[in-house]
Amino acid sequence: MIFGRVKPLDAILATAEKKALHRSLGPIQLILFGVGCIIGTGIFVLTSAGAQKAGPGLMLAFLIAGAVCVVAALCYAEISAMIPVAGSAYTYTYSVMGELLAWTVGWALILEYAISAAAVSVGWSGYFSGTILQETFGVALPDWLRAGPLALGGAPGGLINLPAAIIALLITWLLMIGTTESARVNAVLVAIKITALTAFIALTLPAIDAEHFNPFLPAGVFGGWGSGIGAVGAAATIFFAYVGFDAVSTAAEETRNPQRNVPIGLIGSLVICTVFYILVAAGAIGTIGGQPIIVNGVVLDAGSAELARQCALPEYRDALVCSNEALAHVLRQIGFSAIGNALGIAAFLALPSVILILLFGQTRIFFVMSRDGLLPDVLSKVHPKWKTPYIVTALTGIAVAAGAAFFPVGQLANIANSGALYAFLMVAVAVMLMRRRDPDRPRKFRVPALWLVGPLTVGGCLFLFLNLPTEAMLVFPAWGAIGLVVYFLYGYRKSHLGRGLVEVHEPEIHDIEPPIPGVDERDPLDPPRHPPGL
Ligand code: ALA
Repeated sequence: MIFGRVKPLDAILATAEKKALHRSLGPIQLILFGVGCIIGTGIFVLTSAGAQKAGPGLMLAFLIAGAVCVVAALCYAEISAMIPVAGSAYTYTYSVMGELLAWTVGWALILEYAISAAAVSVGWSGYFSGTILQETFGVALPDWLRAGPLALGGAPGGLINLPAAIIALLITWLLMIGTTESARVNAVLVAIKITALTAFIALTLPAIDAEHFNPFLPAGVFGGWGSGIGAVGAAATIFFAYVGFDAVSTAAEETRNPQRNVPIGLIGSLVICTVFYILVAAGAIGTIGGQPIIVNGVVLDAGSAELARQCALPEYRDALVCSNEALAHVLRQIGFSAIGNALGIAAFLALPSVILILLFGQTRIFFVMSRDGLLPDVLSKVHPKWKTPYIVTALTGIAVAAGAAFFPVGQLANIANSGALYAFLMVAVAVMLMRRRDPDRPRKFRVPALWLVGPLTVGGCLFLFLNLPTEAMLVFPAWGAIGLVVYFLYGYRKSHLGRGLVEVHEPEIHDIEPPIPGVDERDPLDPPRHPPGL
């Protein structure tokens, strides 16, 4: 009966009912929130890794990854408008496929959110060391302080990425003391990112030399399963640039007319980002070239020790594929140093908000899992003054900082992608199962042509997963196996559902649940929001 522990949907919906959050968000706010979560290290930094895998084929890679995300987003739109509660893919799976699979999704979301937060911290560190310290203050951080060790794919001479660890801890502290980010701050940061990318496109597109696109696919479209190269290998990595769009679904409950606005928010933000990404890739590669470094006929792995060694040679020092701050580097190379630095400052200012949203998402998922009894209660313990789940936030932040300190951005991004791909796949399966089992339940949004879109999502996620580099692919089952051991040792016995406790716990969660960063309209300095009547 291991698959029999299905959380009744009506109990989940009763929870949502009780929360009765004010429905205030419209389509523009949702799109802004989506773009705020999506644009980050993926485009500002991983453009280099993507070019090493695919050369100019990176543009095709952005299209492939964007297409998989769009079909997945349609599935998210249907289920999040139907089950608009905290916990996202984990909660949907709990109500449709039961506790065991929900646990595996929650466990995979740790990769998606916590490891992504570490990857964005490393991406931020590249701009901090390059644009802020080196270009602005003329201070060169020693190699051993600005990258993880070579043995793990870091830079030669690297030991610890101190700025990345510090930013992760700083954001953790902000979340612990209850800092959120108002919709206004998010809108300003989105404007900064969009302005930076628009300036990049405007300056690079006119300077394109078509010769740089030749050969367009130096590593082919398909580099072989597990090779992580070719256009699809690059798509599997730069899929990271889209991770985070699912956060829009977490705001479904606060959205006006969610049947219309949630899909607009999800699809609108993805389409905007896809167009920007393809144009940015064209501008970067078309101006300074983006052919991969190939040694003895072998396309080197992005993030590998060998690539790091090659990048230390004078002939590759200025190559796009070797840069830690890809977009600022391109602008400097084509003679716009000041604007390159301004773009670096934009990344420096805006990336921390992506870390904040990802870390917040992670603590919220842990919180929901612990509320269900699958993780120890102590994790959902709330600080009396800050009103935040401070213990789980601190533990998550320390783990994220450790990941950011020692691993390179590409490896972290690939691992995060494996978790996100699993979650997206399970959401598509949940939507299809719900349509079969409960066709008459009201749906505020229905995926058009679900029997095409659903299988396309499942197939697309599997396909990208199989095109990740082998190590990233192996981390996922290893992590899953650890998760199953934890489940059978702890969650299986302690589960509230397993023990027959399916009451609705709303008053506490509402009391402590902080507003979602980036969508809340109140000023962060206002007193905490309380349930109606308290
Ligand atoms: N999509 C987010 C980024 O690229 C996670 O940073």
